[in-house]
Amino acid sequence: MGALKGRDLLSLADLTTEELQELLQLAAALKAGTLKPKCEKILGLLFYKASTRTRVSFSAAMYQLGGQVLDLNPNVTQVGRGEPLPDTARVLDRYLDILAIRTFDQRDLEAFASYATIPIINALTDLEHPCQVLADLQTMQESFSDLNGLTLTYMGDGNNMAHSLMLGCAMTGVNMRVASPPDYCPADAIVQKAQAIANGRTEVVVTPDPLLAIKGAHVVYTDVWASMGQEALAETRIPIFQPYQVSETLLSHADKEAIVLHCLPAHRGEEITDAVIEGSQSRVWDQAENRMHAQKALLASLLGLV
Ligand code: CP
Ligand code: NVA
Repeated sequence: MGALKGRDLLSLADLTTEELQELLQLAAALKAGTLKPKCEKILGLLFYKASTRTRVSFSAAMYQLGGQVLDLNPNVTQVGRGEPLPDTARVLDRYLDILAIRTFDQRDLEAFASYATIPIINALTDLEHPCQVLADLQTMQESFSDLNGLTLTYMGDGNNMAHSLMLGCAMTGVNMRVASPPDYCPADAIVQKAQAIANGRTEVVVTPDPLLAIKGAHVVYTDVWASMGQEALAETRIPIFQPYQVSETLLSHADKEAIVLHCLPAHRGEEITDAVIEGSQSRVWDQAENRMHAQKALLASLLGLV
């Protein structure tokens, strides 16, 4: 493979469909232990928002590859005191081999990447969360073998998760239905991009109707109603989003074999009930595990180890 050597992953749409499929194959091989690439490289983590899964799964993946990880906590580095982004980018570029950034504005990530020559990975922005979707698609492949022709229904806020899922589904032949309250739909630009990728082969639908959206779905996905940075709005959103809660009743309208995914952290009793997340259709722990395998594949590919 090695096709991604030296590249950035700022959006899932930075990958071609073939490259995405190859990454998923690589992730499966790494999980099975049939491939054991090694490296002595350094991964930096520059996270302006909290993280458990992304931080730890990237770190574990890098250590398992034989590399090192540096946590560039903004509270103890000069970025937190306002050192200009172009300066930080050009300096970190001289020390690190690869850098994962979690921040708010996608434009900051893009600006950072434009000043750095090393691969820059989007570890979540307000616009996208591509690394999560690599693990989501791996988890779906494990449950259904073939992604092509599946239907994924996303319930709730048209946020970063909805955006990257729309792109990932369009790239892999998965029909995608988003059910959101009217003022909380995904960004038009992403909907159009996903529709252009799908090119009529799969549906990319946004609807306010949760029942219409979930009918016969193979994968039911949800995420928090207020993302990081929107905490002050959380209370007011609860009644608006209530009809989109993934409960046993709503789930009963999906396909009988449907699986339930959630990127985590979850707010039980809000976007998902305790019974559903702990129920037999939930695959959230496999999904969380796959963050490590999928990102190991991404690191190995971007570093040219495979
Ligand atoms: N799903 C996810 O990205 O989790 P963290 O915020 O814990 O990294
Ligand atoms: N939409 C959530 C995802 C967290 C992994 C957020 O941005 O906070």
